[in-house]
Amino acid sequence: MKTGKAIRQDFISFFEEKGHRFVRSSPVVPIDDPTLLFTNAGMNQFKPIFLDLEKPRYKRVVNSQKCIRVSGKHNDLEEVGIDNYHHTFFEMLGNWSFGDYYKAEAIQWAWELFTDVWGMDPNRLWATVHHTDDEAADLWPKMTDIPPERVLRFGDKDNFWEMGETGPCGPCSEIHYYEGADLSRMSAAGVNVEPEYKELWNLVFIQNNRLEDGSLKDLPAKHVDTGAGLERIVAVLQGKTSNYDTDLFTPIIEHITKITGVPSSEGDGVAHRVLADHVRMLAFSMADGALPSNEGRGYVVRRILRRAARFGRMLERHDPFIYELVDTVTDVMGAAFPEIVEKREHIERVIEAEEASFGETLDRGLEIFARLARDLSSGDVIPGEEAFRLYDTYGFPLDLTELMAREKGLAVDTKGFEKAMGRQRERARGAKKSDVKLEGQEWVTLTEGESSHFLGYATIESEATIRKYRIYEADKLDLILDQTPFYAESGGQIGDTGTITTPGLDLKVVDTQKSAVQGDEEIIHFCEILRGKLDSETKVTAAVDADRRQAIRLNHTATHLLHKALKMVLGDHVQQAGSLVAPDRLRFDFTHYQKVSEKGIKEIEKIVNQVVHEDISLDASVQDFDDARKGGAVAIFGEKYGDRVRVVEVPGFSKELCGGTHVDRTGDIGYFKITSETAVAAGVRRMEAVTGNNVLIYYDQEISSKQAELKRIAASNEELASHLSSELSEVSTMAVSAELQRALDPDSFTLGNVENLEKHLGDLTTATEQLQKEHKVLLRELKKQRKRVSSKELFDDLTLTEIATIRIGFAILDVHDQDEFKDLAVEFKHRLKSGVVVLGTLSEDRPQVVVAVTDDLKAKLPAGELARELGQRLGGGGGGTPILGTAGGRDPSLLQKVLSETPAVVQHRLERQNG
Ligand code: SER
Repeated sequence: MKTGKAIRQDFISFFEEKGHRFVRSSPVVPIDDPTLLFTNAGMNQFKPIFLDLEKPRYKRVVNSQKCIRVSGKHNDLEEVGIDNYHHTFFEMLGNWSFGDYYKAEAIQWAWELFTDVWGMDPNRLWATVHHTDDEAADLWPKMTDIPPERVLRFGDKDNFWEMGETGPCGPCSEIHYYEGADLSRMSAAGVNVEPEYKELWNLVFIQNNRLEDGSLKDLPAKHVDTGAGLERIVAVLQGKTSNYDTDLFTPIIEHITKITGVPSSEGDGVAHRVLADHVRMLAFSMADGALPSNEGRGYVVRRILRRAARFGRMLERHDPFIYELVDTVTDVMGAAFPEIVEKREHIERVIEAEEASFGETLDRGLEIFARLARDLSSGDVIPGEEAFRLYDTYGFPLDLTELMAREKGLAVDTKGFEKAMGRQRERARGAKKSDVKLEGQEWVTLTEGESSHFLGYATIESEATIRKYRIYEADKLDLILDQTPFYAESGGQIGDTGTITTPGLDLKVVDTQKSAVQGDEEIIHFCEILRGKLDSETKVTAAVDADRRQAIRLNHTATHLLHKALKMVLGDHVQQAGSLVAPDRLRFDFTHYQKVSEKGIKEIEKIVNQVVHEDISLDASVQDFDDARKGGAVAIFGEKYGDRVRVVEVPGFSKELCGGTHVDRTGDIGYFKITSETAVAAGVRRMEAVTGNNVLIYYDQEISSKQAELKRIAASNEELASHLSSELSEVSTMAVSAELQRALDPDSFTLGNVENLEKHLGDLTTATEQLQKEHKVLLRELKKQRKRVSSKELFDDLTLTEIATIRIGFAILDVHDQDEFKDLAVEFKHRLKSGVVVLGTLSEDRPQVVVAVTDDLKAKLPAGELARELGQRLGGGGGGTPILGTAGGRDPSLLQKVLSETPAVVQHRLERQNG
């Protein structure tokens, strides 16, 4: 039997012999194309060649492309696992002609490889062509020995191939293979209809470009793009009807069986297939830099992982285990795709973390779903609100809920889901000040003409003309100008503030936002009226708050430097996942799977400060999107870029697409300091940092707060120490004071010297930690001591009585914690030697009781039983073991009464036993 690996190699060698050049698969995360979530076809990486934006290095190419189809135009997700030949991740073998050979060769070679080289039965093969493509229809019988009646014509749906809504496309011709057992049942009617007719190879004749308006344009040259699904071909050549029975999958399926103890032959095998499929998708997408998150590509990854986890539950696995399968995926695929071997550990960790975090809510969500489903019958619809609750509270992606519903013959009200989601978004937005302002009142046009031309890269003050205004409250005014130096919030950078003035009017601009107004994107200045009122005067002076803007510029450039430094220190998988650029700080979210070490943080700071120190002059230019990307500019995924983009470059260091405002030279940043590093979600970390003067302010604040903390701990230590009995006197408050003195040494405090400050802060931190340790020890000692004193005193408060020679002690006490409460009851019982102790207390205004019984009486008077009886009398409940019980109620006024009934309760119980 030929292995999958050998079959892949056969394909490549066959076309190499025909003058093709082998090229590596491009990543499944398309780096060049923000319009695409995942690489969904071999042609993605060649799009610029087809569109004549790039000259091909070779005219004939062969490759095996990693593809993911879970969203967009080509989306096979619903079929995956249910049938045995659709996948979220698969390999597409392809041969390519860039303006070189065309239909005849493509057809001839495909047939030759299938029938001559691989020996497929020609009697089982069918060819299809686009119904208008007479040329291809004629070529099939001419170039191959296929009988003309097995060449069929189909419409656009089957035989016109497009990657997405726009882009290069063309008519195609497919080869289908009939895998049914009985050849006599094979007929034309089954092609493109019945599952036994598998589409194996698609030959696309790329000759058009689909434009945004839906029209087709001829391309300057004609190309060939073929795609053959490796998994399906391997199945045919290995004589299997299921892709999952080929050697590309069996090791993974076996591993699942081994981990879960459930063989795939048990039941319908869907769970095994889904898991085997999904773990490949996860491994390959993560190897190329995708990570689970709540939006875009990251959410697709999360959805797939959660689906997989849910199928794991069907095999009774409730703890993380999918990550263990990655090992087998790398065994099977690692030779062809070394990236998954290199990134194995990273992939495993991310999957495990995500499994663990979803695992916590998954079981609960499944219960809720089961309850929902129980009350419905086949054909019913799960309300959108419920689907949304599963999504919002239990992390169930909508398609997972839909899938589970389908399994039960139910549907999901997806419109209702969207509505619930929309409502939640509105609620979230309602909280945001600026958005609220964007609703409501009409805009009034004051002057006609172009508007919102942004001048703020070059200047922060300019003359301008008011185009439109909107009045909210008596003292509030929103303005749109013809041109403005004010930057409207975008790309993480917050909006400018400043002033707008005319001779009769002084306005304070409190925020600047971008928004569509009457169909155009405008820069809106949100203003407060300080003096005067709007009259017929339309000429204004608009001036941005210079200091604030300068602080923002520092932070924005520092964000780029940080982004690059993170990649250098942590690796290329780091991608920007969000940012905030404010005057006083910057925040940067990025994909990374673990905490960044103290050492890593220092290294990142060092790199950034080095670039700051080099005082490099920045370049900003507007370029064509494609040129910018070719030049290596980093695009942020999820951002929409037009054809013309602004590129901000720190020459020799970083290059990003960015519309923000930046410093002229890196030296302007002064100094860069990371102030925190935390987790935002599995696989996403957040760093906050400060620059320039804010670094000094940061140190100043940190030092003050450390000093205050030291003083507080030292004082509290002293207080604690003075409370302690003589046996603790060796804890020297002298040591504490000496530590404090050293830490507060004013000589080392020089604002001008950042490094000194840093060292000083380090010393303070050490001193604080030392004191905190002591503080803990002191607290522990004090607690012990208090207990010793108090328990003796408290025992004297016990009301003691005797019923039938059994000693009973009860009292109401004021205690601070539950443990102390129980400890006291146990201690009192030992003091009694033989007897029953009942203690009551009020905890958060609720009556609580603890009952302790000595061993000799536990059979006669089990503590748990007494507690239950007392609990009932308190209007609540109780229970416990024969030696210790607890009870609680609601009404605090009952405590005294119930406690005094203790002797009666004991008596009652004894009587019942005797009687
Ligand atoms: N682009 C075509 C497909 O994806 C052929 O490679 O099917």
